[in-house]
Amino acid sequence: MAKIWYLGHSCFQFEIDGVQVVTDPFITGNPLARHLSIEDVNADIILVTHGHGDHIGDLVELAKQTGAEVITNYEICEWLKKQGYDKSRPMNHGGTYVCKGISFKMVNAAHSSSFPDGTYAGNPGGFVVSGETDCIYYAGDTGLTLDMQLIKDEFDLSLAVLPVGDNFTMGPRDAARAAEFCGAKRVVGMHFDTFGFIEIDHQQAKNEFEQKGVELVLPEVGQKLEL
Ligand code: NI
Ligand code: MN
Repeated sequence: MAKIWYLGHSCFQFEIDGVQVVTDPFITGNPLARHLSIEDVNADIILVTHGHGDHIGDLVELAKQTGAEVITNYEICEWLKKQGYDKSRPMNHGGTYVCKGISFKMVNAAHSSSFPDGTYAGNPGGFVVSGETDCIYYAGDTGLTLDMQLIKDEFDLSLAVLPVGDNFTMGPRDAARAAEFCGAKRVVGMHFDTFGFIEIDHQQAKNEFEQKGVELVLPEVGQKLEL
């Protein structure tokens, strides 16, 4: 059972088989996460799905603070080297990398990816993270795609972490279909409420999932869960 600490937006600290995996670090720039500090975050591994500022805002600082291995696309690894950090693993869609006993498969995401200065940041992706007992699909920013059905064919997910904020990603209705596609019975929502474009009605979102027989958890920023 994974321990999950929600740090706001798309940033989580997952504990899987005793390994701390942090996703898309963005805390200091998040108006909803003012009560949190990256100094309290522990990471053995940092997963980064794409180069947008709301996913890499604290990446360089957190990597340097923790010495974690950063798993992301090739272009973001090269960018990190220019910021003075070279402990990273470049991947691309379809590849699997086993790190500290946990398997990371990079899967497709339908989105865009550029650095805050507008330069190319590789293709966006998601990850299927498999440990001893947990198998988690962390989708990153994405719209609904049929590719998600491939995940159901290959993996028996214990959890999917899906964007639900609409506008820049799937909204709740499409995300509920995504849960069906990937075979997840339980979903943690992310990428919602952080700023105006992605504010959602929580009850309406939960209803969309309920109609598909899927449980949706919308964590509070800073909340700790065990799922
Ligand atoms: Ni994005
Ligand atoms: Mn985003």
